[in-house]
Formats: sequence, C-alpha cells, structure tokens
Amino acid sequence: MFPKKTYMERRWKLKVQFDSGIILFLGNEESPMNYSDNTYKFRQDSNFLYFWGLDEPALAAVIDIDNNKEIIFGENVDLDDIIWMGPQPSLQEKAKDIGVKEARSLPELSDFLDTSREIHYLPTYRGDQVIHLSQLLDCDPAEVEFNASEKLIRAVVGLREQKTDEEVLQIETAVDLTAQMHIAAMEMLEPGMFEYEACGAMEGIALAAASRISFPSIFSVEGETLHNHYHGNQMKEGDILINDSGAESELHYAGDITRTIPVSGKFTGRQRDIYQIVLEANKTGIKASKPGITYKEVHLQAARVIAEGLKELGLMRGNLEEAVANGAHALFFPHGLGHMMGLDVHDMEGLGEDYVGYDEDTQRSDQFGLASLRLGKELKPGYVLTVEPGIYFIPELIDRWKEDGKHEAFINYDKVEEYKDFGGVRIEDDILITEKKQRILGMPIPKEVDEVERICQGE
Ligand code: GLY
Ligand code: MN
Ligand code: MN
Repeated sequence: MFPKKTYMERRWKLKVQFDSGIILFLGNEESPMNYSDNTYKFRQDSNFLYFWGLDEPALAAVIDIDNNKEIIFGENVDLDDIIWMGPQPSLQEKAKDIGVKEARSLPELSDFLDTSREIHYLPTYRGDQVIHLSQLLDCDPAEVEFNASEKLIRAVVGLREQKTDEEVLQIETAVDLTAQMHIAAMEMLEPGMFEYEACGAMEGIALAAASRISFPSIFSVEGETLHNHYHGNQMKEGDILINDSGAESELHYAGDITRTIPVSGKFTGRQRDIYQIVLEANKTGIKASKPGITYKEVHLQAARVIAEGLKELGLMRGNLEEAVANGAHALFFPHGLGHMMGLDVHDMEGLGEDYVGYDEDTQRSDQFGLASLRLGKELKPGYVLTVEPGIYFIPELIDRWKEDGKHEAFINYDKVEEYKDFGGVRIEDDILITEKKQRILGMPIPKEVDEVERICQGE
C-alpha cells in the first residue's frame, strides 16, 4: 500500500467537494469461476483501491459528510477462517493502516445507510454489486445505474486523472515489467510455434514477478481484428504478430504496450513500408502530446501521417486534409489514438468514457473511427495516456466500403485489394504529460525496424 497519508489526502480532497450526504464505496467480492469456492484471482475495484487501499474482498466504506466520519465495513476473521486462511490482522488494524478510525461489521452497513439522506455512489460493472446496491438503497436493480451520482463521478475523475509522482512510479514499474514481456516475445517467436505457446510464456513473466496481466493479451497474427483474444494460430514464415499486452504493478497500476513482430525475424518490404508509417504516426502522436492541446487534435495529426504514408504507397489519394476531415483514413485506422491509463488500463472507463475523455469544450464525434476515440479533451500535466496508432486491412470492411463506393475520391480500392491478406500493425507506448511536454514511461522497448529485427534474430 501507499503510506496512509496518501489515502487520507485523497479522501479529504474528495469530501471537501461535498456539502452533505453520504459517499458510499463498495469493494469487489470474490468472483466464482464454476462454483462459489473456486474463484477467479481477486481484483479489487479501482476506486476502492484509490481511496481506501485495502486489497481484499467483502469490504465497503463510507464518508459521512454531515457527521464528518469515515467508516470501513467488513468482517473480522473467526477461528474457522484462520484455519483455512491463516492469521489475519483485525478489521480495526486494517482501518488504522489507511487512517480510518472506525471499523464496523458489514451487516451494519444497511442500517447505517439512512435512505432519506442523499447517498452518492459510483456506477458498478458487476452484477452482484448491482444487487447489493439495490438491497442497500432499497431500489429496483434497474434503477441502480441510473441513480449513480454524477457529482461523485466527476469528482473522482477529477482526482484520479492527474497522477502523482508515487502513482507514476507504480505505472513505470508496470511498464518495465511489460517491457520484459515484450522483449521476451520478440526473442521467442519463430515459425511453427502456436500463438498460445509464446503468449503463455510471456504472461508467465508477469506471474513470476508476483504480478498479473492488466488486460487479456492481444497476441495474434490476425492483427486486423482489433481486440483479438484467440491464440490458436500456428505462426508461419512471413507472418507479423500484434502483441498488445501489459502487466500490473504491485499496487495494480497498469502497463499497456503494443509491438508488432515479424515472426521469422525480418519484415518483408511491404510490411516494413506499413510499419514505418505507423511508427511515424506513433512518434508524431507522442511529440504532439503536451499541455494545452486536445487529444482529438493529436489523434488527427497522427491520422494525417497515416494518410500521407498511405498516399505514398498508392492506397489513398486526393486532398489529404479533406480525406482526414471526412474520415476516409478510418478504413485503415478505425480506432482512437489512445486512452487514459492508471489503476485501470482504460482508466476509469467504468465511470463512463465521456466523463473521462471529454468535457464541455471537446465533444465526442459520431464519425466512424473518430467516434471510437476514448480521450479527446485537452491534455494536462499529470495525465498518463497511451499513443497507439495502427494500420489494418480488414477484408470485410474493405468489401463493404468498396461496394458502397465510400470515400472513392480518397481511396484507391484497386490497390487496397492487393493488401487484403496483410493483417495489421499497431505500435503503442505509454506517456506522461509533464509541465511543458511529455515523457515516455518505462524502459525503452525496441520499436525501430532494425532494433526489432535484431532482437527477433537473437542478437
Ligand atoms: N489493450 C487495449 C488497448 O490498447 O486499448
Ligand atoms: Mn494496448
Ligand atoms: Mn491501449
């Protein structure tokens, strides 16, 4: 855990924004895989971790604004628990570690929550928590999401989005471990191997460092499928593989890196051409990211680099300003340039993407491609975000657009036909916005063509 001062300060910064009522946080419960005692590895809710630090199931916490009280609700272990789980600190001791004076048993929470007072709570993404909240708040489960507190959502986003030095250190630890995973994958791949062999060994690096992966690994030679979680392909000479994966730090901050790897150790000419465009877009996006610019504008700058590169290869044509303004490049780059990252890989996405990524000045576009940009608003020092451009050739999307004659002025469909077996390339780094510029987090992870090829060839 961080020192208790960290959690006390975070709660103080939250409560000064409220005049009355109760702020309620539910920690996560164990989540069963196939029967209740056989559970997935426990992951605490990130908001609970942020304000209360305690990394175990069956806890709740409140800030009673009217009476200026903070209370942790949980259970003290009994002898039976000690027999199965070993000795545990008392709930009171755990509360003390995070600067909370009062600890009560969980069944008391329901009586404590006087529903005639305003109760602020965050949206939840787990079914069991919806039921728990509906019982605690005496409302229909269908109303639970609707009644979540917008004021609390905005206050939490405002605090969590600007990372402190101690958080950045955690993120860098996560990215460093992620770097080891990526370098190992480059060293490991060879034709004939199955994706799961390499992916399993790579994820084992996180486990062997007492960590875990921060999201399901995307590890596929079918990189044109953006969130491809299938790992059953046998890799062949000439394939390129997208490895989009990351580890968590000890305190559950995420890393999220993508590298594109030539399975046989060398890119073909065509792969190198596309790779260089994506690399240029990645570098442009990183360099452009600094306080004062909107990330929507950074996204569009990267999109222009992609369009220019594709024009040079004869895949796009015409006036590229217009092409990008009309979204023609999204045939090849159909996702956003990046997202905030922190305790969640898509940080705070459970609170609502638009609360995190947009504000009054910057609204989400409804144009295909740009609509998927999770972060559009102006960047501020302390933001941690990803820069992850890509170029993909998605046969079904190409066929549909071609059939519809979509953006014909900007897309040379005859040439695009030649690339339908290409797959995809994505390059992703994690950056911190500093006072004036930005900095790439973690140890360098090879991304220049010759560096990647050298590592793949075991040099
Ligand atoms: N790991 C999924 C993403 O990069 O957003
Ligand atoms: Mn990623
Ligand atoms: Mn990402």
